[in-house]
Amino acid sequence: MQIIDGKIVAATIKEEIAAKIAEIVAAGGRRPNLVGVIVGHDGGSESYMMMKTRACEQCGIRSSLVRMDPDVSQEELLAKIEELNHDDDVDGFIVQLPLPKHIDEQAVIEAIDYRKDVDGFHPVNVGRMAIGLPCFRPATPSGILMLLERYHIETRGKHCVVLGRSNIVGKPIANMLIQKAYPGNCTVTVCHSATPNIKELTRQADILIAALGHPCFVTEDMVKEGAVVIDVGTTRVPDATRERGWRLCGDVDYAAVSPHCSYITPVPGGVGPMTIVSLLHNTLQAATGAIYKK
Ligand code: GUN
Repeated sequence: MQIIDGKIVAATIKEEIAAKIAEIVAAGGRRPNLVGVIVGHDGGSESYMMMKTRACEQCGIRSSLVRMDPDVSQEELLAKIEELNHDDDVDGFIVQLPLPKHIDEQAVIEAIDYRKDVDGFHPVNVGRMAIGLPCFRPATPSGILMLLERYHIETRGKHCVVLGRSNIVGKPIANMLIQKAYPGNCTVTVCHSATPNIKELTRQADILIAALGHPCFVTEDMVKEGAVVIDVGTTRVPDATRERGWRLCGDVDYAAVSPHCSYITPVPGGVGPMTIVSLLHNTLQAATGAIYKK
């Protein structure tokens, strides 16, 4: 069994991105610029945004934060998005989700210029991804592909079973892995809350991707010997032995499942660190016009 070390891969790719940006700047080019919009004071969103800003600094990407009150009107938020859409100094921006209940999340996503949508959530990017065209790809599934690639894991002809059908992980990873590409060329099954006999399906998986947000859902009896297991879960569970009172728990019962795997991602330190790297990668692509010409 080999542990897929997301921290090491993320550090390597960050260095590669930093080197490319240094090259651009040395040749007289502009430093990429990413803006994050955060509405309200959600603890999770705040810490996530801080990590993104720190990672930008490490790579030489300019980044700034736009903070809006939790009771900001949808109109005001859309006006800010319009301003960022037209600001030539901004290469890409993200609006941190979830948003307060009075704001229509989909309306916000669709207001973002898809050429600056480094989250890859806009329907133009989602649609282009579905038909295999260049686009900004969402961070978490894109990070999973990077891990499969860096560990040279064979995907062609493999049966990949995805647990979960969210718009930010389940649906896009399923879509990416059926594409005629590497990583890809898989036969993909997507399981969700209405799927009967989930265990029968997961036991057939050569590659099992757990993204349902249910701690320790995947048990030993659900995994085929030699499977590649990718754990996307990051649920905070109470832990009195930790000073902060909680720890992160994945969707996979790691202790029981890992001895049966060929490869497995730990939580934390597996998929998590890759998510931010994908955002940095997308920001560099936005700045260089690699996907949509400037
Ligand atoms: N909330 C949880 N994950 C994400 C993400 O990747 N992007 C944004 N904008 N919000 C999130």
